Formats: sequence, structure tokens, C-alpha cells
Amino acid sequence: MSNLSIFFVFCFFSTLSHAIEFNFCVGDPSLPRGSQGYACKDPAKVTTDYFVYTGFRGEKTPNNVFGNNVTLAFSNVFPTFNGLGISLARLDFAVGGVIPIHSHCTSEILNLVKGSIIAGFIDTNNIAYYNRLEVGDVMVFPQAMLHFQINVGKSPATAYVSLNGANPTLQLTPTSLFAENLPADIA
Ligand SMILES: *[C@@H]1O[C@H](CO)[C@@H](O)[C@H](O)[C@H]1NC(C)=O
Repeated sequence: MSNLSIFFVFCFFSTLSHAIEFNFCVGDPSLPRGSQGYACKDPAKVTTDYFVYTGFRGEKTPNNVFGNNVTLAFSNVFPTFNGLGISLARLDFAVGGVIPIHSHCTSEILNLVKGSIIAGFIDTNNIAYYNRLEVGDVMVFPQAMLHFQINVGKSPATAYVSLNGANPTLQLTPTSLFAENLPADIA
């Protein structure tokens, strides 16, 4: 193999996840974060507890103006996701509660476990795809699409979502449009 091809092979493997060096890369949020996520915590210090997330336990009372309660398990709160390209969130809705239109840099799958919601997304051709979901249903929101959820049932609703990024960002469209910090004469 030529030096050049060895170089390319090296570059290719260098871009793969931390799995080359370690079985896993539980992040250390006390260290600076780079474009690939956090630096790995010393694997010798990682116990089983690091692989269990308990933040979704119990009742989540939706007490904000939207009637929702979003519990994120992104890598900043569950550093075990670091380097794995996955994350989770629990969504709780009061009756009539909404998660206003927003986007992530990743795709998302939603699984409804309680209640009945309308969920949907809008593609780049401004075509809306939405449906009423019942318990057990799964809906997919392709990456970066604007999407939303509304509790249309007569009782509270709960869903879990999974995203294919450890820290998938969250951009709320109404906030970006109407509560950004552009000077008033431009906005
Ligand atoms: C979400 O639920 C938890 C537990 O009930 C509560 O402490 C928290 O204030 C709620 N947050 C919102 C935004 O409703």
C-alpha cells in the first residue's frame, strides 16, 4: 500500500467514532466540548449506573404556557449518549397542550404511550404531513423538518421521542422568528 493510501485509510478511521479506542465514550461534561462531542471519561471509572437514565421517572406536570413538559435526555444531561449518535426525550402534554413548531438537525421518531395527539411536519415544499396518533403509534419526522405535536384528546398525553444525534439541537421556530435579537429596524 502506498503512503498516500495508508494516509487515506488512517483519515477514514480517524473520522469514525471513539469506538476505535474504547468500547464506549461516556462524555465528561466538565471538559471542553468539540464538534464530535465531549472527551471520554476514563472507562475505568464508568460503572453500570452510567448506562441507566432515571430522569424520565414519575409524573411530569405540564405547567408552562404551552401545556407541555419536555424532559430531554441529550448528552449534556446523559453523557453516556456521547459518541453514540442517539438521544431521547419524554414529552408530556396537558389537555390541549402543544409543542410549538420546531426543528432539530437530526431525524426523530415519536412513540405515543398515553393519550391521543396530532403530530405532523412540514417539508421544504411546504407540504404538511400530519395525523392523529393513538397509543402505540409511531411517527417519523425526517431530519431538519419543522414539526409539532398537539394533545387533541380529553386526557393528558405522553410520548417518547428518539433522535439520531447525541445532542441534536432544538430550534423553536416562533422564538427564532419573533424573539430573536435582531435590531428592530431589521426584524
Ligand atoms: C415538569 O415536571 C416536573 C415534575 O413534575 C416539574 O418539576 C417541572 O417544573 C415541570 N416543568 C415544566 C416546564 O412544566
